[in-house]
Amino acid sequence: MNKLLDCKEFTKESLMELLELASKIKANPENYTEELKNKVIAVMFFEPSTRTRMSFEAAIQRLGGKMIVTENGKDNSSAKKGETLEDTIRVLDKYADAIVMRHSSDTAAIDADRVSRVPIINAGSGKSEHPTQALLDVFTILNRRGSLDGTKLAILGDLKYGRTTHSLLQLISLFDNVEVYGLSKKEFMLPQEYIDFLSSKGIKYTICNSFEELPRDIDALYHTRIQSERFEGDFGKEEYIIDKKVLDTFTDKAMVLHPLPRMNEIATDVDDDPRAMYFTQVENGMYVRMAILKSILVDNK
Ligand code: NCD
Repeated sequence: MNKLLDCKEFTKESLMELLELASKIKANPENYTEELKNKVIAVMFFEPSTRTRMSFEAAIQRLGGKMIVTENGKDNSSAKKGETLEDTIRVLDKYADAIVMRHSSDTAAIDADRVSRVPIINAGSGKSEHPTQALLDVFTILNRRGSLDGTKLAILGDLKYGRTTHSLLQLISLFDNVEVYGLSKKEFMLPQEYIDFLSSKGIKYTICNSFEELPRDIDALYHTRIQSERFEGDFGKEEYIIDKKVLDTFTDKAMVLHPLPRMNEIATDVDDDPRAMYFTQVENGMYVRMAILKSILVDNK
């Protein structure tokens, strides 16, 4: 890998290779402490973040790298003065060996890559993509299920503006016999372009209107927050809430995933259930990001 702009660039083979590296790093992180020695990574966030930014920062430090950070780029960088993203990138690529960036524009990573002479790593671009999140999501499903082929996945919440779901669909579509079910308020239904994309990969997408309509033997319930910062108006709170009672209508294998932060989508009475995987996702995120950084900055293949 020589950059990470979106999930379209993965094949099943390249994805599995990266996930295997993440597994090796997770098993023996002490073997990788010198990988980024003498490397400087720019971490540039123009939108709020807790997990993605701090797990990237932890990943860089655990690999022995150094970093320069703009954690509130919208207000604290020259973007506030009107500098274009492209010019900011042309500055940072003189200081750093790679740029990890999050931005509100759907095309931010592609625009940055066009002018950057160092690798761009997309840490979230508008409503379009969040590849590093999707990678840790599939890593978590794989670790729990043993395989991604045949996954029965339900996506819930904000399917319209949620970039994590959009990226996840790209990755899961690389596998065989996958089924995808959608459950959301009508304002937040999955846009047709993604349904068409799934269909082009031979994956049936079933729109559901209640938890009862989802198959009982679902493998993963992937919930997401309504992305209220991405639209005007107020469409209220999430109506499809996973609590212990709802979860107990599914089998023991139904893992509950969420990129976090959660609002009301998952009740806290689910947190201690062995099927709750959202804090495992958080943990996996750091190892997956270590694998991404090593793959781009060291292995570069
Ligand atoms: C997600 C994001 O930024 O898209 N957060 C994250 O990176 N884990 C999801 C969200 O903000 O709802």
